[in-house]
Amino acid sequence: MTGQTQQAEIGVIGGSGFYELLTDARHVDVDTPYGAPSHAPATGVVGGRRVAFLPRHGAGHRFPPHMINYRANLWALRSLGVRQVLAPCAVGSLRPDLGPGRIVLPDQVVDRTSGRVQTYYDTGAVHVPFADPYCQEGRQSVLKAASSAGTEAHDGGTMVVVEGPRFSSRAESQWYARAGWSLVNMTGQPEAALAREIGLCYTAVALVTDHDAGIESGEGVDQESVFEVFQENIERLRSVILGAVELLPEQRTCRCATALDGLPLPFELP
Ligand code: ADE
Repeated sequence: MTGQTQQAEIGVIGGSGFYELLTDARHVDVDTPYGAPSHAPATGVVGGRRVAFLPRHGAGHRFPPHMINYRANLWALRSLGVRQVLAPCAVGSLRPDLGPGRIVLPDQVVDRTSGRVQTYYDTGAVHVPFADPYCQEGRQSVLKAASSAGTEAHDGGTMVVVEGPRFSSRAESQWYARAGWSLVNMTGQPEAALAREIGLCYTAVALVTDHDAGIESGEGVDQESVFEVFQENIERLRSVILGAVELLPEQRTCRCATALDGLPLPFELP
């Protein structure tokens, strides 16, 4: 069970590379009505703020994007007290000017996933607003943290989330680029929508690992180079995330905080 010291206010859904910066880190077993999360979250303190880290893909990357239990992951974080989530993720770029290593704060999402569980609300009439999928305060905190860390982060852009686990064909990728979208990824949905459904602030923090097939003229994207570029940039990403944790407001005044007001939720949230 979760004691007071294992509570957290901020969640980071990222890789295990984040754990070692926690002071007093402890793994907490959390069960949820949706099953087990990808991994037991680790809670601890960063800059005076209580944080819970949860590796989206589980230990040893055991869950591919389409097999992640997104509902359990977000519910587990909320049940620890988390109300604001920072969500680092690897993305392909659909724009020549956003190259590998670039950190991007998307402000819009297009969902091209299929067959994933998309909602907590299978009964009743609960339709959450999602016009602006990402938390404005969270985005500003990450942009400020990046600037303080001397890292240029790109503000804005649309992230298209594909079903995967394969990468996109050149034609698919060119289509996404022509639509004006900037980034392509496999985990951003339904994570963002589910976070909104349970009243969490959610900020996607994208790290560009490759130019997607539609805008590169080589052999297309491959998994090895995606992982390699992510590893090369993880320290920079980590320092931006940790800086942002300290800058997130203690009191939420953003629209995510009131997104569920007046909605007839069929059950109580943890
Ligand atoms: N994650 C990292 N690179 C990607 C790409 N090119 N397409 C989809 N997801 C990705």
